[in-house]
Amino acid sequence: MPAMHIDIIAAIPDLVREPLQHSIVGRAQEAGHVTIEVHDLRDYATDKHRQIDDYPFGGGAGMVLKPEPLVRCIEACQSEAPADAVVYLTPDGEPLKQPRVNQMSMHDHVIMVAGHYKGIDQRVRDHYVTHEISIGDYVLSGGELPALVLVDALVRLLPGVLGDASSALTDSFQDGLLDAPAYTRPAVFRGHRVPDVLRSGNHARIDEWRDTQRIEKTRTRRPDLLDNELGDELEDE
Ligand code: ADE
Repeated sequence: MPAMHIDIIAAIPDLVREPLQHSIVGRAQEAGHVTIEVHDLRDYATDKHRQIDDYPFGGGAGMVLKPEPLVRCIEACQSEAPADAVVYLTPDGEPLKQPRVNQMSMHDHVIMVAGHYKGIDQRVRDHYVTHEISIGDYVLSGGELPALVLVDALVRLLPGVLGDASSALTDSFQDGLLDAPAYTRPAVFRGHRVPDVLRSGNHARIDEWRDTQRIEKTRTRRPDLLDNELGDELEDE
């Protein structure tokens, strides 16, 4: 199984570099499950000020990332072969859901474009970007943190990355239900007891209790999830 390769193109590369060195994503790189390269968009500017943004045509507030450095960088990332996906992180993109993450985790090469300022030139979106993804209905100051979110969601699904092979499958959302509550020692914490069933050793009863908890939690917190069958959302592709 070849390792996945992820290129992150960023206006502020330092925002993503350090977080990628830690935890599951850091260990996945060390173990060779994924290679991640962070590109400083400014390195692809050709003028002496290394300018990557400019005023919007038509006026208005904010700066727009220029097409030339961005496309040069996207092309450099694909100099050997086209990527499977060129993802632009943007609040007006497709809301990120687990089925999309599952699908992208099968790719060999994903490029992520983290914009800044007022966004990127629309022509890059039209002709070079293949997927536009939002991580939620709120506006962040750039796409760097959303790119980290997508990297984390993808990498933990790669074969061999999670120690317990079943744990990615039992996550909230993998089967359309939220997770059951989790407890660890002590059995009594400041007077609050762990549910007896979890200490009973009866695994059939424990599974049943967890299923009931998951359904009940989903019904009260996210009734919208109960209307969606897993995978429905990607059916139209
Ligand atoms: N860039 C700024 N806000 C964003 C969001 N919510 N999702 C993805 N990219 C973004």
